[in-house]
Amino acid sequence: MDDEEQLGMPSQAVHAGEMHDPSGAHIDPIHMTSTYVFEDSEAIRAWGAGEVDARVYSRVGHPNREALSKKLAALEGYGMEDKVEAEIFSSGMGAVTAAIMGLAGAGDHLVAQSVLYGTTNHLVTQILPNYQITSSRVPLLNAEGLEQELGANPNTKIVYLETPANPTMSVIDIRETVRIAHAHGASVVVDNTFATPVLQRPLSMGADVVIHSTTKFINGHGTVIGGALASRHPDFIEEGGGALLRYMGAVPSALDCWLTSIGLKTLPLRMREHCSNARALASFLESSDKVGRTYWPGLPSHPQHEVATKQMDDFGAMITIDLGDAISACRFMDALQMSSLAVSLGNVDTLVQHPTSMTHRLMTEEDRLAVGITPGMIRISVGIESPEDIISDFERALEQV
Ligand SMILES: Cc1ncc(COP(=O)(O)O)c(C=O)c1O
Repeated sequence: MDDEEQLGMPSQAVHAGEMHDPSGAHIDPIHMTSTYVFEDSEAIRAWGAGEVDARVYSRVGHPNREALSKKLAALEGYGMEDKVEAEIFSSGMGAVTAAIMGLAGAGDHLVAQSVLYGTTNHLVTQILPNYQITSSRVPLLNAEGLEQELGANPNTKIVYLETPANPTMSVIDIRETVRIAHAHGASVVVDNTFATPVLQRPLSMGADVVIHSTTKFINGHGTVIGGALASRHPDFIEEGGGALLRYMGAVPSALDCWLTSIGLKTLPLRMREHCSNARALASFLESSDKVGRTYWPGLPSHPQHEVATKQMDDFGAMITIDLGDAISACRFMDALQMSSLAVSLGNVDTLVQHPTSMTHRLMTEEDRLAVGITPGMIRISVGIESPEDIISDFERALEQV
């Protein structure tokens, strides 16, 4: 389609990047091949001389990866004048690692908020120091603390954030972070996994790179582990962090890209249902005397509700509650019937997990408590089942607490 940029977001989710294969197939075929054939030696010469583009080898590129990257770039760059490009990885962690390695090297520094997804936290604190990349943390990347940290570490190349954050649901002010980071010459990298481009588009707020675990809402059906980078700096995708894909080898298969593209087509539709169910469940949970605290950015009681209102179109499907202690959390989980006890998130099914014993178990108890991850916390990824069924599953389980 010639004027895709004129289309609304749901139309772009459906149409952007689709290939319309010469066979006439309406849905893109899955290109399960490792290599591509050259017609003759002249075709090889023309490709080698840079006169023509050619597909050569699936680690370097394949049609399903290209189609998915175009669709995701259209959504992350929705409404923007700058050209946004994306690259697809075989996992969210592949994308996180490539984003950091693409922007920082030995001797550089990274500043992040206090709470991050457990494996990202492990990468930053335990793995990056082996490559002489140091890091420090600023709670909520608050303006004063961030200014101070960047002033003290002029070698900072990256300010890294997750918003809403996993699992505390804290919300970081993207525009304010960009303003301060750019004044100090650092790039801003935003993990947009919880919000998705349907609810929040950090590149349009000045961020440099967006990360996704496409495993989550982007795919939506729990069938694939995948990741992505999007950037408003095409060079970063073509020659920086995006290009690291071929050297690190964290490449997604054609089938994985195809499944993720199919999922992405319904993202705007699914997010509407996810958000509306989350709104109903969050207000039920907040009013329950069995629940100590309910963290959902759409509740006026959320500490960063105002920031969330400024930068998000809706508040997402992730809710965290505090049931007071680990025993209550376990009793609650054991009494659920429809919802599944599982890590991951963003599936059409409601998923429930206990960060202390699951996603954030590699952190010490002391480190968890310091960033607000308590033993009674339960993280909920609200699915698209009937809201009354989700609420009655939770109501029944809370009776055991
Ligand atoms: C916010 C966030 N970022 C990154 C990741 C890592 O993604 P993946 O598991 O696809 O490697 C996760 C996984 O749960 C996540 O929740």
